[in-house]
Amino acid sequence: MSVIETSSSVRNDVAHLAGDIERLEMIFENWDETPRGAVKAYGLAIEALNGEALRRLVGALKRDPAALAAMKSAVTDEVVYAVLRRHGIIKPSLTERVEAALESIRPMLASHGGDVELVSIAPPTIEVRFTGACDGCPASQLTFHAGVKKAVEDSCPEITDILQVKGTGATSGDGESVRFISPFALGAGGKWHLAAKLQDIPDGGIKADIVDGEKILLSRRGSLVTCFQNACAHLGLALDDGDVDAGIITCPYHGFRYDLASGECLTAPAVQLQPHAVRVIGNRVEVRLQK
Ligand code: FES
Repeated sequence: MSVIETSSSVRNDVAHLAGDIERLEMIFENWDETPRGAVKAYGLAIEALNGEALRRLVGALKRDPAALAAMKSAVTDEVVYAVLRRHGIIKPSLTERVEAALESIRPMLASHGGDVELVSIAPPTIEVRFTGACDGCPASQLTFHAGVKKAVEDSCPEITDILQVKGTGATSGDGESVRFISPFALGAGGKWHLAAKLQDIPDGGIKADIVDGEKILLSRRGSLVTCFQNACAHLGLALDDGDVDAGIITCPYHGFRYDLASGECLTAPAVQLQPHAVRVIGNRVEVRLQK
C-alpha cells in the first residue's frame, strides 16, 4: 500500500490526512540534507501560497454578512477549522485557549503528583477540578489562585469567573463513598489511620490528637476536614490552644495566623503548616501521615 492512502479511499478525516503528512515527513527525514531541504522549502512555498489564498478568500467572505455566516458554519468542520488554524487565519477557540492555559501549569502540578481538568465552559465562567494529589490538598487553594486562575485570566480575558469544583466521586477500597480526600495521600505511602469521628470535630473548630505518635491538628468546616502537624511554623509550638475564627487560627504564643483550609500562614506567607492527607468515609476521619 502506498504511504498516501487518501487518494484511493474516502478516509479524509483529519487524523488520516495528518497521518499521510507524518509518514512523508518520516521518509524525508532519512534523505540527504540537500533533497531534504529542497522538499521542505517546496512544502513551505505551497503552504504560503495556500495560506495567502485562504486569507484573501476569508477576507472577501467577511465583507458579506451572509457569506460570513456561511463561513462561520463551515468552520465547525474539523478539517476546515484545522487548516485555517494552521495558517493562523482564525483564532484559537476559547476551549483551546483555556486548555492551553491549563497545559502551561501542568508541569508544576505534575511535580506534586497532581493535575487539573476542565469541567465546563460557559463564558464568563469556567469550572475546573483538581485531580490526583492536588485534589482536595490543603495547598490546592494556593495552587488554584497562584497557578490556574492567573494562567487562565492571562490568556482568556473574557473569562472572569473561575470556579474550582470540589469532590472526586472517589470510593474507598470497600466501596464506601469518600466525601473528601485531601490527598497528598494519593502520592504518599503509608497506611490510613482512624483519627476521629466526624462529629467529634466541632464544625468550624479544631481538634488536637496524637496519631501514630504524631501530634496532629484536625479542623472542620461542614464535611471539609483538613489535618496539619500540630506545630506552629514559627517555633513549632502546639496550636490547639489558639483562637479559631472564620477558618483562621491564631497561634496562642506569638500570634501567627493560619488559614485552616490551606495551611497558609497569613502572617508570614513564606511558611505554612505541614499538611497531612485526610479522607472522610462515612463519619470516619482518616489521616495518612507525611513523615
Ligand atoms: S510559636 Fe506560634 S507564633 Fe510563635
